[in-house]
Amino acid sequence: MDDFTGKNILVLGGSRGIGAAIVRRFAKGGGKVAFTYAGSKDAAEALTGETRAEAIRTDSADRDALIATVASRGALDVLVANAGTLVMGDPLTLEADAIDHMIDVNVRAPYHAAVEAARKMPDNGRIIVIGSVNGDFMPFPGGAAYALTKSAVQGMVRGLARDFGDRAITVNCIQPGPTDSDMNPANGPMAEFMRSFMAIKRHIRTDEIAELAAYIAGPHGAMMTGAMHTIDGGMGA
Ligand SMILES: NC(=O)c1ccc[n+]([C@@H]2O[C@H](COP(=O)([O-])OP(=O)(O)OC[C@H]3O[C@@H](n4cnc5c(N)ncnc54)[C@H](OP(=O)(O)O)[C@@H]3O)[C@@H](O)[C@H]2O)c1
Repeated sequence: MDDFTGKNILVLGGSRGIGAAIVRRFAKGGGKVAFTYAGSKDAAEALTGETRAEAIRTDSADRDALIATVASRGALDVLVANAGTLVMGDPLTLEADAIDHMIDVNVRAPYHAAVEAARKMPDNGRIIVIGSVNGDFMPFPGGAAYALTKSAVQGMVRGLARDFGDRAITVNCIQPGPTDSDMNPANGPMAEFMRSFMAIKRHIRTDEIAELAAYIAGPHGAMMTGAMHTIDGGMGA
């Protein structure tokens, strides 16, 4: 197991799902972990009780609050921008405000958080954004705006890897396929449809995503940067 003892780690959107698994993984590795959440107070408190990680209520859609929270954590060794929302449906009928909110949370927030974290981040720091396999392709209708957000973070990751490379800070994107969470439950109404696109027909477990995050954040990840790391059960094969 990679040793994160003493590492200062912030996970955006850590109360549930993939983010919570990442919090657990870094806490198990000895990290000093904090995470943000927006609405799930009970889940956040339960995770704090389980892991000792610090929960901070900060809505990623509130840019100034988010920047202030990142700044308040001091010199972060690892930032994981995981918070995300999914709005799907007929683009002709979806609410424009819902689309813009998703863009705020999925795109603007990771960008501003990453830049703010980089101000104080030590050499060899790690910035990880949770994108999606839908950044590469969108195999069904209704996901154009979500795919837009996940393609956008690819460009950000490539660019920031160049911006911070002289400090050996790595910037990477993890691109999950269907992963069992509240957003995409393995027993939900869309589950079979999602699995139909995969070579290995089961939902990915959140701890499998968290292990990849730990690898990227650990010492063996030092030369991986500006890269998209897809973990999708062969959805894109
Ligand atoms: N599950 C999948 O199949 C899948 C596949 C590809 C990519 N992803 C990506 O993986 C990431 C996590 O997804 P998930 O499946 O774990 O989703 P989830 O189960 O819905 O959990 C989302 C997490 O993000 C937090 N969050 C949402 N909006 C927020 C906001 N405005 N401010 C702060 N925190 C916020 C939630 O906290 P609160 O509940 O406290 O608001 C929660 O902890 C997302 O970026 C998603 O796009 C998921």
